[in-house]
Amino acid sequence: MIVKKLDVKDYRNAAARTVEFSDGRNAFVGPNARGKTNLLEAVYFAGVGKSFRTPRDRELIKSDAERAYISVAADKECGRETVKIVIDRTANKRVAVNDVPISRMSELMGVCPVVLFCPDGLKIIKEAPADRRRFMDIALCQVSKAYFAALSRYDKILQSRNRLLKSGGANDNTLAPWDELLATEGARIVKSRRGYVKRLQIPTAERHAFLTGGAETPELEYEGAEGDGAEEIKAALSAALKRDRESDLRLKYTHSGPHKDDIKIKVNGVDIRTYGSQGQQRTVALAMKLAEMQLLTDVLGTSPVLLLDDVFSELDSTRREKLLAALDGFQTVITATDDDGFAQFGVNIIKM
Ligand SMILES: Nc1ncnc2c1ncn2[C@@H]1O[C@H](COP(=O)(O)OP(=O)(O)O)[C@@H](O)[C@H]1O
Ligand SMILES: [Mg+2]
Repeated sequence: MIVKKLDVKDYRNAAARTVEFSDGRNAFVGPNARGKTNLLEAVYFAGVGKSFRTPRDRELIKSDAERAYISVAADKECGRETVKIVIDRTANKRVAVNDVPISRMSELMGVCPVVLFCPDGLKIIKEAPADRRRFMDIALCQVSKAYFAALSRYDKILQSRNRLLKSGGANDNTLAPWDELLATEGARIVKSRRGYVKRLQIPTAERHAFLTGGAETPELEYEGAEGDGAEEIKAALSAALKRDRESDLRLKYTHSGPHKDDIKIKVNGVDIRTYGSQGQQRTVALAMKLAEMQLLTDVLGTSPVLLLDDVFSELDSTRREKLLAALDGFQTVITATDDDGFAQFGVNIIKM
């Protein structure tokens, strides 16, 4: 897929802006606070239906305006597709795909696939398990509407179960139906995520070898309820809910399930979530992101656009060159404060 055009209106700091992209590398270049990340965020929003910077859509509306508009046109193997979004201060956001309003956000998934890499991207290694779960969920939601739906249902069931625990009305009888639902939906999520992490392994190792010259091999493993089949995983989840019931009742919170899972990341047998150097963590994170690009391309049959926010300023020149080479063949949108060295790589520079 190639994103051809982005239009925004009353969005963040832009009253109106149209951007045309080239098929290869594009860069928003300009001083701080010009709105470079804002425009990257707009493309991301058209891809996954939310921002990577805030859970509150309203923050995207220009401060003196009533509603914001984002419109993206992309060329795919099947022809031109458009995503149009209206974010209102008082109503729910409205999304139209090819000018047909959609009623469920799952219908947006995969229309304009995106992969984001930002300085926070290092978080997929270093920070809380929540960041690694998000890494899996954002990719899986884009490739599977069923996954998106299962995840939404799981979140709702989890919230209901936690509300019941807090209400004081929780006991073995009232919890049983929630536990059954939670284990059923949870098994779908764990099964998909474990499969995804398995499939990430080889492309991650390959990209890592490319970036480092091949000295070390990262190993990824999903940490969650055991099992490969949905039934097996469901049984493990049910057993964990039973095991933790007493502490759930005492602390009024659900302690086990895919909302607590993680990815174990080892290099040469050492857990780099805690023991890796920053350079090591950064390289593995980059390799995982490049692997994500590959998997999305394989599954969707079209390549996502890669959005790189302020990543180049953080890399030394060798890693920069390696990264640009690894991105060959993918459409890329970069933000940077200067265009040093971009010219030799044929980057379409969009001045901000
Ligand atoms: N809702 C909004 N209304 C008006 N201005 C906004 C809004 N949200 C962010 N901004 C402005 O956008 C600018 C930051 O844009 P950003 O894309 O982060 O800049 P950069 O070019 O450094 O990436 C700031 O000046 C901020 O005040
Ligand atoms: Mg920025």
